[in-house]
Amino acid sequence: KRGGTDEQKRAAGESAVDAVSDGMVVGLGTGSTTAYAIRELGRRVDAGLDIEGVPTSYQSRQLAREVGIPLTTLEDATPDLAIDGADQVADGTLIKGGGAAHTREKLVDAAADRLLVVVDPTKEADALDHPVPIEVLPDARRTVAETVADLGGDPQLRAAERKDGPVVTDNGNLVLDCDFGTIEDPAGLARALSALPGVLEHGLFVELADEIHCGTDDGVRVTEL
Ligand code: A5P
Repeated sequence: KRGGTDEQKRAAGESAVDAVSDGMVVGLGTGSTTAYAIRELGRRVDAGLDIEGVPTSYQSRQLAREVGIPLTTLEDATPDLAIDGADQVADGTLIKGGGAAHTREKLVDAAADRLLVVVDPTKEADALDHPVPIEVLPDARRTVAETVADLGGDPQLRAAERKDGPVVTDNGNLVLDCDFGTIEDPAGLARALSALPGVLEHGLFVELADEIHCGTDDGVRVTEL
């Protein structure tokens, strides 16, 4: 568990769910804050809300199933809105991928008409300085790590916690956590990382978020972007 309190996360998650209405297709993000939104969506589906969800990870698919949200895919539907968490937010730009799910999250979040981001105050910063997760094809680990170092970053292969060896993503790839210190030009860095052969996706989400719902001890602060 990372970040703020469960109550802050719950408040943020439930606040974003208020934007969901009958007939919508909803992108279901990954992580402990979005999990509160998925559980609340499940309660509303129980009470008659008619929606379909597009999960962004094994974790969000299993939770959505458990709470009874009918599921669909990007093959069959375009999300009206997506609800997703973040590891850091500054100026509306996000760093994601703490759960190694950012590739499918970005796919679903970018496809959605609107992205509502659910965070707590520990995620908010004046400038982004959290390491940027990069999902790489296993064969690209060394070449991408070298280029990241040339760009001024410090790449670390993400290790698994309850298994020897590296984290393997839902897509069968590896994750490099790349510390760039304070990121002065997130859009420029995002473009440079996206251009590298073997990079599936990186965790910088530039100009994707439409609203930030930040759960605080005194209610939810909503920032429209
Ligand atoms: C998953 O890969 C991440 O992008 C999550 O969305 C992010 O780590 C937020 O998770 P928490 O809400 O658990 O902090």
